[in-house]
Amino acid sequence: MTGALSKRPYKIAVSSGKGGVGKTNISVNLALALQRAGHKVALFDADLALANAHIVMGAHPKKTLVDALGEEVSLAEIATEGPLGVKLIAGGNGLAELMDLSHELRHQIAKSFDQLAPIADYLIIDTPAGIESNVVDFVSVANRKLIVVVGEPAAFIDAYACIKVLHQTAGVNHFDVVVNRVRDDAHGEDVFRRFKAIAAKFLTCNLYHVGSIPEDAQMLKSIGACSPVVMSAPQSRSARALEALAKRITGPHATPVDEGAAEMFAAGTQEDG
Ligand SMILES: Nc1ncnc2c1ncn2[C@@H]1O[C@H](COP(=O)(O)OP(=O)(O)O)[C@@H](O)[C@H]1O
Ligand SMILES: [Mg+2]
Repeated sequence: MTGALSKRPYKIAVSSGKGGVGKTNISVNLALALQRAGHKVALFDADLALANAHIVMGAHPKKTLVDALGEEVSLAEIATEGPLGVKLIAGGNGLAELMDLSHELRHQIAKSFDQLAPIADYLIIDTPAGIESNVVDFVSVANRKLIVVVGEPAAFIDAYACIKVLHQTAGVNHFDVVVNRVRDDAHGEDVFRRFKAIAAKFLTCNLYHVGSIPEDAQMLKSIGACSPVVMSAPQSRSARALEALAKRITGPHATPVDEGAAEMFAAGTQEDG
């Protein structure tokens, strides 16, 4: 077991501020890529009101987070077995109980993530759009905070707002940026550079570019078929990029997370020492 996994589950949150930029698809495929690499993986659908990870994954949850509220039921007990054995902790759709969870309850749920250790080496947390405290409560407990952006102004603004809130209210200093829907790697680099330049004007936190996912017709096809692309088209450009992302943020050679350093944007990625 690597150092990174000493406190299980190792939690990876996926946020963006803006909706529709690919959080859920990245979360689901990341979970499957890690499970296929031999890890035990759980996925928490923190989009409590408009949950859809189960649809993207092609799973059929009989229980949702509602079943764990107010009772002595653990998250592990409500988990649904998804493809490859990934455990899905499903949110709800328009369920009043989940739409206005109190901060205390969210905090309690986030604290209970560690109880998933027997069934999960990794926990992927798929968050909703927005920058409200429901996002902050679940993201702040994660070991890694992924921010998904696409190369358009609205996505930049919302991702910036998301980073700002997490930085200012939860003291997060390290963000892993994933650029989605790119033409090629150079395009991904360019989008990252432009995004970082904007953020650097106003915030002192570290942004790292951990991956670019191509715009891919195979991805669209897989979404239509409710069969995630790393399973249905593992040789596609998007699937290979998602596999590479999984490797870059986990394991002994992952880019290190340095929450301590609020230095101005340390350049490039470092290798684990
Ligand atoms: N890499 C990609 N290539 C092609 N289409 C994509 C890609 N990523 C996302 N999409 C499109 O964006 C939509 C929204 O993705 P989703 O993961 O649900 O976003 P979010 O969770 O951020 O709201 C998908 O249904 C798909 O149509
Ligand atoms: Mg989503």
